[in-house]
Amino acid sequence: MKKILSLILAVGSFAAVAAGPSVELEKANIQPDNLVSLQNGAKLYVNYCMGCHSLEFQRYERMAKDLEIPNEIVIQNLMVTGDKIGEQMKIAMDKKDAAEWFGAAPPDLTLVARVRKNGVDWLYSYLKGFYRDETRPYGVNNTVFPNVGMPHVMENLQGVQVKTDDGKLELVEQGSMTPEEYDQAVLDITNFLHYVAEPMKSDRREIGVYVLMFLLVLFGLAYLLKKEYWKDVH
Ligand code: HEC
Repeated sequence: MKKILSLILAVGSFAAVAAGPSVELEKANIQPDNLVSLQNGAKLYVNYCMGCHSLEFQRYERMAKDLEIPNEIVIQNLMVTGDKIGEQMKIAMDKKDAAEWFGAAPPDLTLVARVRKNGVDWLYSYLKGFYRDETRPYGVNNTVFPNVGMPHVMENLQGVQVKTDDGKLELVEQGSMTPEEYDQAVLDITNFLHYVAEPMKSDRREIGVYVLMFLLVLFGLAYLLKKEYWKDVH
């Protein structure tokens, strides 16, 4: 009995360690209807992320339509592997090679904004959370995802951060963007990944408005009908 109890305790404490200390996430105030932000996010994603991360459940054509980007521009600027516009946003990198290079294969990111808890805030904080750590293979670590296998791919934009003794991040070397510009860039990528995870969301909202208007009209008619039926009863 004692053995079982200590086993349970041991497993419990292991689970607590595995969950890790929860870091505070920064709030991402994305604007799902802001086309400029979504378009910029798509551009940044293709340029900085799609070397490693596919979006297998998203098609170029759908993205072009939803984000109101002309097909020709998508074909010329946003298609990296020379696919047809009707195809999914796949990548050329082999998963096995990638696992060897990075220790873990870069996952597909189509659904990441939905799969991660507080996905939008998590993504935003993750992309802002890289800091210098010489003990890591790529010289960087991450506050939100400790010991991540991903290099800081936007370091030339953001610059170099270090972790201070109180656990905060400090920019010690600025990249080509100001901190405000980098925040906006990261917000746009986050906005884009939020859209990709649920491309129907804006449609649903539109449909919702029609449904409410319909219900309102129906209510009006029902009320008139009720008055008609009851007018002789009194
Ligand atoms: C050079 C390849 C490479 C590039 C480019 C890259 N990543 Fe990664 N990324 C990785 C690897 C490898 C992992 C897996 C890390 C692990 O599991 O330790 C990863 C993990 C992630 C994760 C965590 C996924 C999860 O839920 O586990 C997110 C989110 C992510 N990357 C976003 C991005 C974004 C956004 C960009 C573009 C700004 C980007 N990555 C560019 C290699 C890359």
